Amino acid sequence: MTDTTTVDPDALLAEILLTPEGKADPYSRYAAIREHSAAYRTSIGFVVVGRFDDCQWVLRDARFGKGDVDSVAVWERYGITEAEWVEHFSDFNRRTTSMLGLDPPDHTRLRRLVAKAFTPKTVEQLRPDIERLTSRMLDEFRGAVVVDVIPELALRLPIAVISEMLGVPESYWPALQPLVRAATATLEINPSLDQLEAGARAARGIAECFEGLIAERREHPTEDLLSQLIHVEELGDQLNHDELIATVILLFGAGFETTTNLIGNGLLALLEHPVELQRLRDDRLLLGTAVEELLRWDSPVQIDGRMAYEDLDVHGVAVKAGEQVVTLLGAANRDPRTFVEPDRFDIGRGAAQLMSFGAGIHFCLGAPLARAEGRVVFDQLLDRFPVIEPAWGDERPRFRDSIVLRGLESLPVHLA
Ligand code: HEM
Repeated sequence: MTDTTTVDPDALLAEILLTPEGKADPYSRYAAIREHSAAYRTSIGFVVVGRFDDCQWVLRDARFGKGDVDSVAVWERYGITEAEWVEHFSDFNRRTTSMLGLDPPDHTRLRRLVAKAFTPKTVEQLRPDIERLTSRMLDEFRGAVVVDVIPELALRLPIAVISEMLGVPESYWPALQPLVRAATATLEINPSLDQLEAGARAARGIAECFEGLIAERREHPTEDLLSQLIHVEELGDQLNHDELIATVILLFGAGFETTTNLIGNGLLALLEHPVELQRLRDDRLLLGTAVEELLRWDSPVQIDGRMAYEDLDVHGVAVKAGEQVVTLLGAANRDPRTFVEPDRFDIGRGAAQLMSFGAGIHFCLGAPLARAEGRVVFDQLLDRFPVIEPAWGDERPRFRDSIVLRGLESLPVHLA
């Protein structure tokens, strides 16, 4: 039991966000923060909650929302003028015109346009495609002794799947992948001005790629989701051109580093718990609950949050309208108030709910797709390779320098 009187939640959060030790083991630090108090204000201003019920509440309650960068004069934080912000970072407004950055009613309208493509039923119909794409990638591992699963599978498969749905040709991937990585870096808490500039450049590059593809599809429509969205735009009253671009970029970007991290973090967890790995080999009916446990154990998205729209009391902390409340999803997924023995990895746990996909109206649209990809990948890996073992020697694989998205730089494994 942590002695909560000596805990400094601010220092612990800084360790998680900024140090290799904190990134290697955020969970003991999250536990100390979560048990210290239900809510606290950090030295840089925002308020943090880490208990499951509180994270649910913040993400569900309409007194919180996505906020508007213009209304909080974000440029002041970076010591630049509004005119400079508009000149260099106008592409950010694109992000806020995607459903991810909007409140109702615009959020409701945009989400409804694509929701049908992501229901569990529609995704089930995609399963043969996911199986085919996974199988093709695993074929390439034949004869290899050591494979780095991150670049060779975890990064490639989610792009292949979402590209298949949207209709993005394979020739676009090499250009898009690094651009999406640079763009998602701006989702970090307090991104630096350099990160923002790189992100804005990347956002322009991605938009140009999709403008080209949209022009092509307008001429020659196909059955893919992109053609369907172009059709909706052409009807004229539900989706404007900026929203079309923002939606396509969101769908393309939201699905891949997240699912990459489900595959990478998930395989690491299984390799670090060989008894559970063997249990899954022996009983593939556990695949469903195993993927849920992988999502809970080391969530691909660790941090979410909302802006308060009115003055509120959050467990004794006075939050003013316009202030940010950060939800620690990784901490909530290990909350003993919600999960029995949360620090035990148990692929048969069957937890009724998770924080990994967020909550409320922005609950991850792609959750059924991510789950399906996870099940197919782990099923096929176990089918194909009777031996999957760590190939990283004494030094545990390192996590990348981000914390909103948590994922490995590389994961070398022996396959036989
Ligand atoms: C394991 C993989 C994934 C994880 C952990 C994940 C996590 C999340 C989370 C936490 C949110 C909520 C953000 C918020 O509250 O603001 C979200 C939203 C979203 N996700 Fe995912 N995601 C994953 C995969 C995918 C995939 C495969 C897609 C497919 C396109 C996708 C599309 C979206 C979209 C469109 C939203 C915005 C929904 C809205 O604003 O209404 N995600 N995701």
